[in-house]
Amino acid sequence: AKTYDIAVIPGDGIGKEIVPVAQQVMEKATEGVADFRYDDFDLGADRYLRDGAILPDDELERIKGNDAILLGAIGDPRVKAGVLERGLLLRMRFDLDQYVNLRPSKLYRGVTSPLADPGDIDFVVVREGTEGLYCGAGGAVRRGTPHEVATEVSINTAFGVERVVRYAFELAMKRRRHVTLVHKKNVLVNAGDMWQRIVDRVGEEYPQVTHDYQHVDAATIFLVTEPSRFDVIVTDNLFGDIITDEAGSVVGGVGYSASGCINASKEYPSMFEPIHGSAPDIAGQGIANPTAAVLSAAMLLRHLDLDEAAERIERAVESDIEANAGIDRSTQEVGRDILSRL
Ligand code: IPM
Ligand code: MN
Repeated sequence: AKTYDIAVIPGDGIGKEIVPVAQQVMEKATEGVADFRYDDFDLGADRYLRDGAILPDDELERIKGNDAILLGAIGDPRVKAGVLERGLLLRMRFDLDQYVNLRPSKLYRGVTSPLADPGDIDFVVVREGTEGLYCGAGGAVRRGTPHEVATEVSINTAFGVERVVRYAFELAMKRRRHVTLVHKKNVLVNAGDMWQRIVDRVGEEYPQVTHDYQHVDAATIFLVTEPSRFDVIVTDNLFGDIITDEAGSVVGGVGYSASGCINASKEYPSMFEPIHGSAPDIAGQGIANPTAAVLSAAMLLRHLDLDEAAERIERAVESDIEANAGIDRSTQEVGRDILSRL
């Protein structure tokens, strides 16, 4: 069996409860095929409140030495919004050049969608992960005065857009061969025009893949009126953030939504995390649903080319959800049930 080094960052709140379950499941699914050497990181709100550290440089370097990262959740009401989000989560996405934020949405059998007639929902959002409005370009002047000016500048580079668009077309080749660009090119004419030209140009290299375009506001409507029309959506960082929360909700809640922050060139480790947050309201009670973390572990395994193990986990989760959706179970019970179905 091959050994893989995995950086484990449980983070805050329920992250600490669900990550160990995901580890158990990935171990069992790879028995005899892969072994994992875990490198545990104490990062998040508790660490920050204890010694002020958010992501020390030497720890980031240590993270880089791993094959992949398993992350729980980041965020805590005791810490001012933005401190850990920017200093820890976004810093890793940026410094590890995780330019593809991959967010699949699938309506599992047994799960009740809030939509009356959801149809077959199975699409993936390829959200750009290192540019756009998340870059931190901008600033505030005359802060606190009536003449305060605050700017955030959206950075879009041809290099950054092309690599994520290419990833989307490659992914579409393995799926239903349709890419939808979501943007707001009727208003954001500079970036929107560049995204569209790049999609058109890359699309020419994939004649088997069809592509279309939707303004982001219209896309939010189609996500609730006809989500089955989507296969692969490619979009910028902020639009992707917003529509993947909506996507999580149409498939029955972000509790089932996994994600990968992927450095597709494999220069740095990729990071896998549930889309949901740290849920401080239920943290510490042992009742958080670990399903999204388990599905994130499956994505991690697929990234390490352990496809068969990833599929086993996905099948186990699928049958667990079908049998038990709607039943109140503890974190441990869900973990045990998924393990028993592997
Ligand atoms: C997400 C989260 C993050 C984001 C926050 C916590 C910085 O909402 O992973 O979707 O905006 O990307
Ligand atoms: Mn988000």
